[in-house]
Amino acid sequence: MCGIIGHVGEGNAIDALLTGLENLEYRGYDSAGVAVQNGSGIEIRKRSGRLSELKTSLLGEQLEGEVGIGHTRWSTHGPPTDENAHPHTGATDDVAVVHNGIVENYAELRERLREHGHEFTSDTDTEVIPHLIGQYVAEGMATEAAFRRAVGELEGSYAVAAMVSDERAIYAARQGSPLVVGVEDEGVFLASDVPAFLEYTDTVAYLEDGDVAVIHPGGIELTDLAGRSVTRELRTVDWDPEQTAKGTYDHFMLKEIHEQPTALAQTVEGRVDRRSGAATLAEFEPGDFAGIDRVQLIACGTSYHAALYGSLLLNDAGVDSRALLANEYGDRSPPVDEGTLVIAVTQSGETADTLSALRRATAAGARTLTVTNVVGSTATRIADDRILIRAGPEIGVAATKTFSSQAVVLALLADRIARDRGDDSPLGPTLVSALKALPRQIERVLSSTDAGAIARRYHGSRSYFFIGRGLGYPVALEGALKFKEITYEHAEGFAAGELKHGPLALVTPETPVFAVFTGEEDARTLKSAEEAATRGAPIVALCPADHRATAVADAHLEIPDAPPETAGLLANVGLQLVSYHAADLLERPIDKPRNLAKSVTVE
Ligand code: F6R
Repeated sequence: MCGIIGHVGEGNAIDALLTGLENLEYRGYDSAGVAVQNGSGIEIRKRSGRLSELKTSLLGEQLEGEVGIGHTRWSTHGPPTDENAHPHTGATDDVAVVHNGIVENYAELRERLREHGHEFTSDTDTEVIPHLIGQYVAEGMATEAAFRRAVGELEGSYAVAAMVSDERAIYAARQGSPLVVGVEDEGVFLASDVPAFLEYTDTVAYLEDGDVAVIHPGGIELTDLAGRSVTRELRTVDWDPEQTAKGTYDHFMLKEIHEQPTALAQTVEGRVDRRSGAATLAEFEPGDFAGIDRVQLIACGTSYHAALYGSLLLNDAGVDSRALLANEYGDRSPPVDEGTLVIAVTQSGETADTLSALRRATAAGARTLTVTNVVGSTATRIADDRILIRAGPEIGVAATKTFSSQAVVLALLADRIARDRGDDSPLGPTLVSALKALPRQIERVLSSTDAGAIARRYHGSRSYFFIGRGLGYPVALEGALKFKEITYEHAEGFAAGELKHGPLALVTPETPVFAVFTGEEDARTLKSAEEAATRGAPIVALCPADHRATAVADAHLEIPDAPPETAGLLANVGLQLVSYHAADLLERPIDKPRNLAKSVTVE
């Protein structure tokens, strides 16, 4: 977890560092800090709490330096205190380091350094890094060699950036945590993710595991850990800086919910043959999936719910498929052979649980593919193949538009895999018309929804239940996850038919039940909703206007008429809005819910 930024260039780096940290705060917000190099040593300012605390502490101060590094933290070792905030220094203040990842052998390194007289002032694993660099410099090594040796001794994962007193350079390296370089006329950036510097430059190079970068005003030298030169392609990202700003919305989450029609149009663009109704997915050669016997989808959280959605569609298309939680994917996972395709669904492409499951699948001999939003992310490098969901940057910690785009890409993939295998029932024609209508139908949900009124009506309830069957089941799970994540209220999602097998005991007039109707055996979902209503629970039906559930329900969130393949996605947008308004009523920090971070890079 954590976000790191660095800048070397003309003029004061501090504004670029603070802007970068603001754009990286989605990666963690337990503390923030910066270090700048100003010709008379390194100056460090750091504070526990959100970046705003650091900014306030800098008011009225003329902190200056042309070279600087910064960090926003999601705690793994030690509580979120000023002492544990990055940047960390070594035995003297001559070396400053920011780090994202986990140094697994830090205790052992600490012990060794203590024998050389080093003392530590934080609980972090990171602090060993500046001490190691300082130790090797003190032993007479040049800075670059000392840096290289120090990172070479780290076990675990890291994206690390270091500065040394009176050198106009940043030394950086990555192993298992993301790091990207941004190049502009006046200087060079280094960051955990592109939005950190997007308003300065869109020319980027993604570093790979084992890369070491020395960044100075004249440019970048890239090598591997052994010092051999490496080249990483410079590319232009087509994200607009406007896309990463909130615009007129109060929260990124609301903005991203409203971006779904555009995001989905981008997701589908050029991927469907409008005449035949077939998913084309030009990333793959014709017949590429002909030898696939079964599919395993691995993912976490919201991406897991999209994976579940995808696995149901794959089964519909005749492909044997299962969605599995990435963090449970291990020795007891279903068998894998050369006919198995393992699909890692991950918005960030950096979720440690998913990456580790992906590595296990590769080791077991499966063919792998990742469905992700982030170009150049680690998942895209580990997997054999990749499909981008093209949803644009998602800043709100709660995933919204990326769930919809993931589900749609998986629907296309289900169709394409089935066709390549020669299965009888590809999803094609139904899917194509449903996908064509989806952006406009989402706009209708967004403009006509009663979500705000429903959130107010059930405000203060004891628990919130979400039920659905078939493709409505992953939506019920996702509805509950979103609700608990941003409101901090108790919420659970169930397969509708499961209510009577236990959860019904919890149902009272204080537990509203949101029932998702997708047109698949709705009579059975309605029966489950009625069983809850009989016990006094208020029912909120997500269904079209003329649906018979409206006669039973206490409240109705209208979704347009759509086939089951997309009805659930429309219902999900309604549920996203209910969660948003409920959290807003409770004055929760919607974009940055407590204890969570956007990208979970620890297992
Ligand atoms: C919930 C949420 C998380 C992520 C999960 C996986 O709103 O965002 O549950 O879905 O941490 O993240 P990715 O998709 O980046 O692998």
